[in-house]
Amino acid sequence: MKYKVAVIPGDGIGPEVTEQAVNVLNAVGEKFNHKFEYTYAKAGGCAIDEFKTTALPEETLDICKASDAVLLGAVGGPKWDDTKAKVRPEQALLGLRGGLNLYCNLRPAMLYKQLKDASPLKDRIIGDGIDVLVVRELTGGIYFGERELLTKENGEEVARDTEQYSTSEVKRIAKIAFDSAMKRNKKVTSVDKANILESSRLWRRVVEEVAKDYPEVTLEHLYVDNTSMQLVRDPRQFDVILTSNMFGDILSDEASMITGSIGMLPSASLGDNSFGLYEPIHGSAPDIAGKDLANPLATILSVAMMLRYSFGLNAEADSIENAVSKVLDTEYRTGDIMSEGKVKVGTKKMGELVVSNL
Ligand code: NAD
Ligand code: IPM
Ligand code: MN
Repeated sequence: MKYKVAVIPGDGIGPEVTEQAVNVLNAVGEKFNHKFEYTYAKAGGCAIDEFKTTALPEETLDICKASDAVLLGAVGGPKWDDTKAKVRPEQALLGLRGGLNLYCNLRPAMLYKQLKDASPLKDRIIGDGIDVLVVRELTGGIYFGERELLTKENGEEVARDTEQYSTSEVKRIAKIAFDSAMKRNKKVTSVDKANILESSRLWRRVVEEVAKDYPEVTLEHLYVDNTSMQLVRDPRQFDVILTSNMFGDILSDEASMITGSIGMLPSASLGDNSFGLYEPIHGSAPDIAGKDLANPLATILSVAMMLRYSFGLNAEADSIENAVSKVLDTEYRTGDIMSEGKVKVGTKKMGELVVSNL
């Protein structure tokens, strides 16, 4: 079969990690006899440089809409970080997520046992492994609420952002969290700030309503501050974490680190059909960009999620995940997952190792 993939390398390490992921996808295509057809498109800082007035050209959105799935590297960087700028690279991400109605973001934080020494957590806390799925709402909340910057008569500036959720927005993401839990360890931890925020109290009520359809799933509610502490105290208490757009952003970075590195965590952004956008959870890492230092595994594992969720190619997805595990059985590591006695390799070499272990 032929699959159409839009590729948005973006900025910083984005092009380096997507290059390796595309190589892996091509190798999977050869091994399993599939054809992946790529259309490259610009978004983020590189698009601002070319088009000046937008980080997400119309053409890019059209290319995505005409594809079966999107692979994205990362966007942003210091060059475009002016706090007064009207156009910002990150607007491209919101434009893609919102414009393609990708309201569900799955971020699986799984510790490969070979990376125990790369995790900052002690052995007794890691135990026999960490496996948490963060289900992050992706097209609502404070990311998409009204925002405004005003200058008062006395010259003082006031800025405002709005956190907002509707019943239907919470319901559809909660259902996905419970469905995921049914295929896992049947526990959902819904994370909010219901002791303060009205939007969190609505969130909590709707989640409880949805839970009634899943009597086998244990539901607990935790405040976000407590959750961030519990994640390092005892990450094994979690199965599925269901949370809002902003809390999910923050908690998934934390979850990634306990599995060894942010360079390991893939993500899938999904909507109502099989179309999806796949990207590592990390950013453009300007501090290491262009130096062949970035870990491409998060992006490679994102391609595995693409095969599974958008194309239903489970054996092919498994083959990538197994290849990553086999590479981690060897002594080769990128800098972010280095530990004693290991051999440091670059982005390209790590990608090649995955291809040769497919
Ligand atoms: P970042 O995730 O880019 O980097 C944080 C730290 O993690 C850095 O030290 C970086 O070197 C390291 N790191 C990240 N990915 C790595 C990898 N694959 N291998 C090894 N080390 C890695 O976060 P930041 O520095 O806060 O943000 C940089 C830029 O990226 C900003 O412009 C931000 O808005 C943007 N950003 C984009 C996305 C995205 O495109 N999805 C996500 C997060 C941040
Ligand atoms: C992520 C990033 C983005 C987010 C930014 C760059 C808009 O941090 O994908 O995790 O906050 O969603
Ligand atoms: Mn983030």
